[in-house]
Amino acid sequence: MLPVIDPAASNTAPKHHPGVPVLPLPFPPAVPSLPGIRVPDTFPERLGALLALLNGVTRIDWTGSGARAGRSVPSGGGAYPGEVYVATGSGLFHYLPSAHALELLGGVDLRGDLTRALDRPPVQQPEFMVLITSRLDANLGRYGPFGHRLQALDTGVLTGQALTLLESAGAAPMAHARFVDEELGRLLGLDSRAEHVHAVVTARSPGAIAPGASLLRRRTARCGFEPAPVPLGSLLTVLEEASRPLPLDHAAPVGCDVYVVAQRVSGLAPGCHRREARTGRLVPVDGDVTPRGLFPPGGPGELAGFEAACAVLVTGDYEAGYPLYGDRWYRMLNLRAGVVGQRIGLAAARAGLGAGLRCDVETAAADAALSACPDRTTLFAALLGQERGSGAPACHLSVRSREAGRKGAP
Ligand SMILES: Cc1cc2nc3c(=O)[nH]c(=O)nc-3n(C[C@H](O)[C@H](O)[C@H](O)COP(=O)(O)O)c2cc1C
Repeated sequence: MLPVIDPAASNTAPKHHPGVPVLPLPFPPAVPSLPGIRVPDTFPERLGALLALLNGVTRIDWTGSGARAGRSVPSGGGAYPGEVYVATGSGLFHYLPSAHALELLGGVDLRGDLTRALDRPPVQQPEFMVLITSRLDANLGRYGPFGHRLQALDTGVLTGQALTLLESAGAAPMAHARFVDEELGRLLGLDSRAEHVHAVVTARSPGAIAPGASLLRRRTARCGFEPAPVPLGSLLTVLEEASRPLPLDHAAPVGCDVYVVAQRVSGLAPGCHRREARTGRLVPVDGDVTPRGLFPPGGPGELAGFEAACAVLVTGDYEAGYPLYGDRWYRMLNLRAGVVGQRIGLAAARAGLGAGLRCDVETAAADAALSACPDRTTLFAALLGQERGSGAPACHLSVRSREAGRKGAP
């Protein structure tokens, strides 16, 4: 069953803390996306690039209804319920994506107190901490209770992006899903009726982010897909990235395996395939399903599925984790899935493929394709294919585009 959506209800506005000092970050963000283009390398520049790529406005998209600010990460329904806080030796800060600035919430070093609230703190005291919260009312008006799942997946997307960025900055990150919620909320000064910490990423002090144009190119293929084949090799690189081990503070009894429902992949038979974790091979699974058949008839998902080259199903097992982690497992499983979803989006951009995460799959139809593994359920689908035309026009906001403009590059 798909959730009942109230399209007239708007999502709530992002959070800010009136009256606290606001520290502007260097703009446009120094996003080193081309080797050979030198960007300034001071700590504020590095932090600015990290936060812009984590949750900031990184492009302007022109759509049928006008210009729209595009963010570095996707979010279910574009609601962006996640807020990002940073703890360093200089204090606690909240990131304002629209202003690309930090609100200074306190000049006291809270890293020790925050680390003590983690169930599995890292052996060495973290130098840099990212705390990802969710505003509880952000999308419930529009999506009802289903909004909670979107919030859990969005937390995973942000966590995945933080891990990718901090790995590339040589900061050896670890994501934590197990902690004393109330204590972290108290340290951040959150109203527990309105906002909860959902994930924490601990790391060493980040260096410069390695060049990665794909970080800027990621976006949802909003104009749809050309109904054209994609090479198997490109799909396999995306799946390999999606299946890399996750640096998390807990082991999962059953992870987020990926399946592919292929339609137009050169060298791969149409139908459902399971990715073997050990070998990376795609093994056919019984069942007669197409990407189009994963979505309710007559809806936008059906058209997108019809055009896409394939759908990647990210799956999980709700029952397996409850005996170990209790109710928190729901959040933990969707967090894992969100990390995998973000990796798929970035890897697709790197491979030159269009992509789009979708939660409007008909779960029963998708799960029927997984009949070989009856305990698994589909958490979401990522459609992959060739983005239609050149996609919607977009202008990237970064030092790269400024420098490229100066050099007369297009
Ligand atoms: C967890 C999640 C679920 C999503 N589900 C859908 C969906 O069901 N249908 C859809 O068209 N887009 C879906 N999206 C894509 C968002 O609408 C999109 O990310 C958002 O509008 C921002 O656009 P961008 O990805 O181009 O930056 C989903 C994104 C996420 C992260």
